[in-house]
This record gives sequence, C-alpha cells and structure tokens, in this order.
Amino acid sequence: MHIAVIGAGYVGIVSGACLADFGMKVTCVDKDQEKIEMLKRGIIPFYEPGLEELVKKNLKMERLSFTTNLKEAVKNSLVIFICVGTPPNPDGSADLSQIRDVALSLAEVIDEYKVIVTKSTVPVGTNRWIKSLIDSNKKADVAIDIISNPEFLREGAAIEDFMHPDRVIIGGESAYAIAIIKDIYRPLYLAETPFIITDLETAELIKYSSNAFLATKITFINEIANFCEKVGADVTVVAKGMGLDVRIGAKFLNPGPGFGGSCFPKDVKALVHHGRSVGSPFRILEAVLEANEKQKLRVLEKIETFLENVNEKTISILGLSFKPNTSDVRESPALVIIPILLKKGAKVKVYDPVAMEEFKKAIGDLEIEYCSTPLECVKDSNCLVILTEWNEFRFLDLSQIKKIMKTPILIDMRNIYDPSIPKKLGFSYSGIGRA
Ligand SMILES: NC(=O)c1ccc[n+]([C@@H]2O[C@H](COP(=O)([O-])OP(=O)(O)OC[C@H]3O[C@@H](n4cnc5c(N)ncnc54)[C@H](O)[C@@H]3O)[C@@H](O)[C@H]2O)c1
Repeated sequence: MHIAVIGAGYVGIVSGACLADFGMKVTCVDKDQEKIEMLKRGIIPFYEPGLEELVKKNLKMERLSFTTNLKEAVKNSLVIFICVGTPPNPDGSADLSQIRDVALSLAEVIDEYKVIVTKSTVPVGTNRWIKSLIDSNKKADVAIDIISNPEFLREGAAIEDFMHPDRVIIGGESAYAIAIIKDIYRPLYLAETPFIITDLETAELIKYSSNAFLATKITFINEIANFCEKVGADVTVVAKGMGLDVRIGAKFLNPGPGFGGSCFPKDVKALVHHGRSVGSPFRILEAVLEANEKQKLRVLEKIETFLENVNEKTISILGLSFKPNTSDVRESPALVIIPILLKKGAKVKVYDPVAMEEFKKAIGDLEIEYCSTPLECVKDSNCLVILTEWNEFRFLDLSQIKKIMKTPILIDMRNIYDPSIPKKLGFSYSGIGRA
C-alpha cells in the first residue's frame, strides 16, 4: 500500500512514520522546503519523544520518504491523508485555507481513483466541501472518495497514542473506501482497538466534542480549585475523590494555569462559532473559553498577593510549553503572563528544557532573560513560578534555591510540591486550590 501524507507537522510526521512502521510505503509532502530537507536527514523540527528514532528507522528501511513534490507523491499513492493546519480565524472559526489549497492542488494532479482521508480537525461539513471542491475542479474525469479520520494523538505521547489509540473513527459513504482505510489500520484492529464506522458529519463532530469535553473538564476543576482557595478545601483530594467515581474518571482533573496547546483553544472556539452560526449556541463552551482566559491571570494575582507590586522585581518562570514533553508553545499560558509582567515593570527570567527556541519565535523580541538551568533562572529572583510540570522540576534543590533567591516565594501552578516541604524550608508557597 502506498500512502501520501500532506502536511509534515506534528500529525503528519507522526502519522507518516507510524504508518511506515506498520509496513506501508509512505511519502510525506510539505510545502516548507527547509523542513523537508531536515526531515530527509532524520531531523525533526520539534520535540516529540521517540519520533526521531522512528523516522530514522523507517527512512533507512526505505518505507518513509519526504518531498515537496505533491504531484509525484500523489501519483504513486492510492490513499492521501490530509494533515495540514486548521488554525483559528480572528472570529474563532476554523481557517480552512490550507485545506482549500490542498484540495485544489489535488484536483490538479489526480488522474486515477484515490481515497482522500482528512486527519486535520475540520468543522462539520468540511469533508463534503473538500470532495465537492475536488470534483468541481479536477482535471481528469476520475472518481474519488472522501473519508473523515480525525486524529486524537497527544503531543508528548504521540507515537504511543497513534500505535495504541483508544479508538479509530472512520466516517464515509463509500464501503469500498472504508474497507481500504480499515485495511491500513489492520494492525490496530487486530490489537482489538475499537473502530467506529460512521458518516462524515458524525466523525467530524466526534473529534470536536471530545476536545470540547476535555477542555470543559479541565476548566471545571480549575474553577473548583479557585473555590477551594476561598473555602479552605484541598482540590487535589477533591479531584481524587471525584475521579474514583467511574462515571467521572481521574484524568483531566488536574488544576493549572489554564489549558493551552494547538488543539483545545482553537477547537473549542471553532465549535462555539459553528454553534452560533447554525442557531445552536454552546453556552457551556462559551463559559469555558471565558473562564480559561481568566484562569491564565490567576498566576498574576498570586504573584501580586506576595509581592504587592512587581515593578523592578525579578520573576523566574519554569516551563514555557503548554504541557510537558513537547516544545509546542501554541496558546501556552506563558505567552499571556510574561508580556503582562514585563508591562508592569518586572524583570523576567525563564527556563524550559526544550521549548525556549519555539517560545522566542512565538513571543518575539521582548526583553526576557533565557537561562540554561533552573538554578540560573532562580538566581536573585523575587518569585519562582512553576508553569509546566516537567519532571525535572519535581525534584529541584529547594534549599539551594532558597539561598540564591532574593525573596523565597514559590508559586506552584501545577501542584507538583507537597506544600509542607517548601514551607518547612522557609518559602512563602502557593499551589493551586490548596488553601
Ligand atoms: N498537534 C496535535 O496534537 C494534533 C492532534 C490531533 C489533531 N490535530 C489536527 O491536525 C491538523 C494538523 O495539526 P499540526 O499540529 O500537525 O499542524 P502543523 O502546523 O504542525 O503542521 C501543518 C503542516 O502542513 C504544512 N502545509 C500547509 N499547507 C500545505 C500545503 N498546501 N501543502 C503541503 N503542506 C502544507 C505546513 O507547512 C505544516 O508543516 C490540525 O487540524 C490540528 O487541529 C493536531
């Protein structure tokens, strides 16, 4: 089976490498020449555990290749996976321009039957639109089928998620095309992964509903955490007590500085926008978006509780990526908090194990001190803030840190420390949702 994957980003490279590892011949296409040159040498443009090894292995086995030549990749493939970005428009709706470009390019080059599979997260109705765009612009009189196959991988655990997903969703109308896609995923089927075969619209909505629900769960526990601080309860125990109820489940009940990343914010916004536009508003999700923006500011309230005024104070931030094990900083709370601190006159020092380059690109030319170790970051600081729960922040030498800070204040936005430990060492400590 020959497969083309269009868009060599997080989803495209992971899907391409994993499908190649299943034994298929995969060509990944991207319009970014520099990225493709790196990938040809086995260099991954972002941090994702295990991905470089998997790409190198499949390059060597000649099952995986990278190109900017879409025509060539499509010519040799029966199945074409679309994995390009669907970022938010200013009004919250999904920007489908990358999808449109790909559909029009495919219409130019397709000259025999192909199955087009959309892995990108796209609003309900988009797959039907892609098919009609291709059908009405195609140069050759050939049939195509379209399949919606949304992707659920999590950055930081992407290979494990692709190889052992909770479910595979396949939406389509052609039994023949569905059978081809089921065949591609046969290794997962044999491993008893549940498959849901459904129509295009339902498949598209499963993806949005899943992300919107998870974002709601995070926001719910964040608001419970804020309430805990007012009434003297401990959110970590509340979450544990809730999570043991099998109807609720323990995952996504960790409070923090607000959800970020490339998916939850944009997908919730897109669903809210779509709901409004068809007269079926998502009131819960509108509140989720509002509460999440407020949550990002909680850390500033905490800093100011201890320091009153941050002007000319040094604030050290550990963790810039939106979650651990990824260099992705898209919609990271750090992108909101740091510019506010700088505007208020603070000096900001930062450290992240892998996301500093991405962060520099995203935040632009602001006066931030990028440090090469956590200790360098906290030296002469008035307040240490842990924003991302990287493992290396779980066992910091707090006694040493206390000695080199100007004022020992620790704000732990991920509750990775037992409050009694920093307090015993003489820190002023604030976690989240622990009075
Ligand atoms: N990142 C995730 O964790 C994740 C998880 C599940 C689903 N998704 C969805 O998958 C899609 C892709 O996300 P991503 O994070 O991989 O995006 P990304 O921005 O990392 O990658 C997209 C790639 O597509 C390329 N591209 C754009 N237009 C192109 C064209 N016309 N021809 C060839 N290449 C083109 C870009 O150069 C880029 O390399 C999005 O819809 C996203 O919502 C992402």
